[in-house]
Amino acid sequence: MTIQTLKRRYNITTFGCQMNKADSERMAGILEKMGFEWSEDPFQADLVLYNTCTIRDNAQQKVYSYIGKQAKRKQKNPELTLVIAGCVAQQEGEELLRRVPELDLIMGPQHANRLQDLLEQVFEGNQVVATEEINILEDITKPRRDSNITAWVNIIYGCNERCTYCVVPSVRGIEQSRTPEAIYKEIEDIARQGYKEITLLGQNIDAYGRDLPGVTETGRHKHTFTDLLYYIHDIKGIERIRFATSHPRYFTERLIKACYELPKVCEHFHIPFQSGDNDILKAMARGYTQEKYRSIIAKIREYMPDAAISADVIVGFPGETEEQFQNTLKVVEDIGFDQLNTAAYSPRPNTPAAIWENQLSEEVKSDRLQRLNHLVSTKAAERSQRYLGRIEEVLVEAQNPKDQTQVMGRTRGNRLTFFTGDISQLKGQIMKVKINEVRAFSLTGELI
Ligand code: SAH
Ligand code: SF4
Ligand code: F3S
Repeated sequence: MTIQTLKRRYNITTFGCQMNKADSERMAGILEKMGFEWSEDPFQADLVLYNTCTIRDNAQQKVYSYIGKQAKRKQKNPELTLVIAGCVAQQEGEELLRRVPELDLIMGPQHANRLQDLLEQVFEGNQVVATEEINILEDITKPRRDSNITAWVNIIYGCNERCTYCVVPSVRGIEQSRTPEAIYKEIEDIARQGYKEITLLGQNIDAYGRDLPGVTETGRHKHTFTDLLYYIHDIKGIERIRFATSHPRYFTERLIKACYELPKVCEHFHIPFQSGDNDILKAMARGYTQEKYRSIIAKIREYMPDAAISADVIVGFPGETEEQFQNTLKVVEDIGFDQLNTAAYSPRPNTPAAIWENQLSEEVKSDRLQRLNHLVSTKAAERSQRYLGRIEEVLVEAQNPKDQTQVMGRTRGNRLTFFTGDISQLKGQIMKVKINEVRAFSLTGELI
């Protein structure tokens, strides 16, 4: 009896992208509904869940080192429940059980909303592997969100692209759009709870709706991402709308126009370009040229001259020559990104490029990555200068953990900004801040 009345404690550690963060928040919601309590320390918890990422090999290796430690702990404490969710779980499946027999549950990303069902099977004494392709069910559990100001909202799961380097389609499955009504309802709910900002999520957000039924008279899909923006825009209480990730192949002027027209949609675009060389882009099967990419950015700036632009880029893709790498540097030089996520190419299981023979050495890849990163920070610092002396709207999210006299939040362009103020009064408010100090990736200012 006493054992049963004791609260069981859980911990979730999340690796990888925003999709995984959003999935973790939903799984945490499910666990709390089941009566589990949050434990800050994963080594004190009774149920430990790792929501994993496999986008590059180092992400996957990091996961294995954590799992190894928990498996040891379980040998002394058989009551411990060990769950591996997310993309490594999907990729490795049964293989993970062979590697770590202590695991109780292995579940792919499409099964996140089924956590309660799956755990019930575990508590009956089964070892469970849930990695089959399924239709993702609408989730009725309230997520336990990390912030109470900003919230993720999934609008489309999966990805139908086949970029030759990328593991995402094989671990996240095919595209599955949520209905506009379900999305609307979730955002209304979020607004009612007092959140101010939402970020709409999809691996390829421009693909939203193409799997939903309905075609308009002019032959286009009825539920495009642009339509969705107009549809949800006026939900009361939400003051800012963001979205990620955009794909250059599908990015339209209609969408740019919507972002320009709709006041809540922030002027920040995350549009990965991956490479500045057309032959590499072709080998990646990205479906656009660097000229097309540049013209999209130019179009955005035509409507919104000050829009913040961020992107992802890969160096050292198989066969990339020094000259082709220079073309990537040139795009970085010319565009002036506000932020750029850079990575050295990492061969991934079940992707075409991984078995090509023209792989580059680790030395060449890391040398290019270093040179690129150097340029990125120089350019970001330059780009930051434009904020100096300007007045920016900052949505206050939290206290500055490094300085209790300061609060922090983000500008519409997504720059982290600090200023002196009292969090108990400012949290969740949009304040006008005069910027008087700029760094490459953050700003400091004063309230006006
Ligand atoms: N859906 C997004 C990206 C998802 S993955 C898009 O289409 O752009 C996030 C980023 O990881 C990618 O943009 C890419 O830059 C990087 N990435 C993906 N696979 C990689 C690999 N095999 N090696 C190195 N970086 C990779
Ligand atoms: Fe991966 Fe390409 Fe899909 Fe992005 S669009 S998730 S890079 S396959
Ligand atoms: Fe990683 Fe899976 Fe996201 S592989 S980047 S967590 S989709």
